[in-house]
Amino acid sequence: MINIVQIGYGYWGTNVARNIMQSRETNMVALSDAAQSRLDAARNVYGSAIPDYTTDYEKYLTDPNVDAFALVIQTEPSFEIAKKILRAGKHLFIEKPMASDTARAEELTRLAHENKVILHTDHIMIFHPIIRYIKKMYDDGALGDLIYFDISRMNLGPIRKDVNAMLDLAVHDLAVIDYISGGKEPYHVEAIGEKHYGSQETLTYLTLKYDGFLAHIKSSWISPIKERRTMIGGTKKMVIFDDMKTMDKLTIFDQGIIETGEEYGPYEFKARSGDITIPYIPQEDALRNSIEHFARCIQEGHESLANGEQGIKVIRILDRARKALIESEK
Ligand SMILES: NC(=O)c1ccc[n+]([C@@H]2O[C@H](COP(=O)([O-])OP(=O)(O)OC[C@H]3O[C@@H](n4cnc5c(N)ncnc54)[C@H](O)[C@@H]3O)[C@@H](O)[C@H]2O)c1
Repeated sequence: MINIVQIGYGYWGTNVARNIMQSRETNMVALSDAAQSRLDAARNVYGSAIPDYTTDYEKYLTDPNVDAFALVIQTEPSFEIAKKILRAGKHLFIEKPMASDTARAEELTRLAHENKVILHTDHIMIFHPIIRYIKKMYDDGALGDLIYFDISRMNLGPIRKDVNAMLDLAVHDLAVIDYISGGKEPYHVEAIGEKHYGSQETLTYLTLKYDGFLAHIKSSWISPIKERRTMIGGTKKMVIFDDMKTMDKLTIFDQGIIETGEEYGPYEFKARSGDITIPYIPQEDALRNSIEHFARCIQEGHESLANGEQGIKVIRILDRARKALIESEK
């Protein structure tokens, strides 16, 4: 059982707290938030099941009973607090995006290595059972070679102040592409976006060229509908993962394009139709999996799948995309 102090009980913090409280692998030692009103809200839910509600998380940095911190606050202020936690030799579960730029992500990763602690970014999608299923399909050769990722992650808000829609949302998709492709990085990055309702891009389109495949990622805070849709094209099969559906989230298309062998005929290639299947994949909570993966990494002493190196790769792409966004404004 890992003893955790959680910092931040806002919108997402309520989900993280619920999972830390429900998991058999974690024990909540204290919950901290800068806002007393948020601590009162948490106390109403958990009462004495959480021993301490405090605005002062720093007292736990030197507490030998505390193994780890879960940092669930906005990206900008999380950096300074993350450094204190890592320097104190405590393991860190940090919300995505891991940092606002590559230099910061590198610094957190270096501190984690120096202090021999686990650094885990909450890239929850790589702990989603459907993404894991697709990863296995790819690794087993069932998908064939990757041709494209076509992803949209849209909703009405929340409009964040410290990061744009791309840093808020595409971060999940970049982690998924990194995970499924076995760590490939794009050699070409294009991005356009629009700022509405604040100083950050509310809507972004990101286009990436990897060795052998393309990715197009749409991230929006101004959509009338919530969409969480990932389409992946392989040379053997294609899949659509619709996370808004309740049961049949993954559809597998045994379809593609084949050569006709008729070099001088009207078509050199033709569409190949096949079965459309919906596999049964037991439901699991991706956030619970992410938290329990973090706990197991601490207990078993191995690196997280969402470690500092993965965080750096994702943030490095987002830094390049930010430059492309600025270029596109000229
Ligand atoms: N993994 C995911 O799928 C996912 C989903 C949503 C949000 N998030 C991430 O979670 C983080 C929080 O997002 P949110 O929507 O909950 O934000 P929020 O604004 O609703 O909540 C943030 C909370 O942190 C507290 N806080 C801020 N600064 C603090 C400090 N210095 N010390 C203590 N408490 C402090 C605030 O009082 C607030 O209660 C963000 O990094 C966001 O990107 C992740």
